[in-house]
Amino acid sequence: LHLDHGTYENCLECIEAGFTSVMYDGSHEETFQINLERTAEIVKIAHEKGISVEAEVGGIGGVEDGVVGQGEIADPEECKQIAALGVDFLACGIGNIHGVYPEDWAGLSFDALAAIKEAVGDLPLVLHGGTGIPVDQIQKAISLGVSKINVNTDLQLVFAAATREYIEAGKDLEGKGFDPRKIIKPGREAIVARAKELMEEFGSVNKA
Ligand code: 13P
Repeated sequence: LHLDHGTYENCLECIEAGFTSVMYDGSHEETFQINLERTAEIVKIAHEKGISVEAEVGGIGGVEDGVVGQGEIADPEECKQIAALGVDFLACGIGNIHGVYPEDWAGLSFDALAAIKEAVGDLPLVLHGGTGIPVDQIQKAISLGVSKINVNTDLQLVFAAATREYIEAGKDLEGKGFDPRKIIKPGREAIVARAKELMEEFGSVNKA
């Protein structure tokens, strides 16, 4: 059970609550120094309990107050310092953003990814904002050291579309179609089917 984008306090609570993995997202802290110090603390506390830690350098852009921010590029030197703390995975900005990408998105920065990989060595890198990144860019990112890809919005969209279809076809009005388990079923199945497709594209089938 993994906590995604936790604050320092969230991580401590989740470690106490029995999570097996936490992401401390210190990229929004006032300074990099605070991110570094708090990541070090979380690593110490989590590792004593056998819990893995994902850290973040260089914020992942996305929609804030209705405005889509461009993706940030993480500083390889900062990535190196965070990696040296013994984190288990590192999320780093390489132009990726959460949510649907804007029409004029510049794409992932492979130069940045290569420089970060060079700085952190074997540490597995995490690509956030997986929704809508073209498959060729995803596969290139994997070849350059990305080991985990987070996809959320894509799955929410297929769930919503399947649920809308069920309701708009009036199926909730037929027999016991109003049963919440029936209403949710098409969306659930749509998520499973899309997750399978993504796993095939990412080459992660049978690797967990
Ligand atoms: P998307 O919603 O853009 O796929 O991003 C998911 C994510 O990175 C969660 O941490």
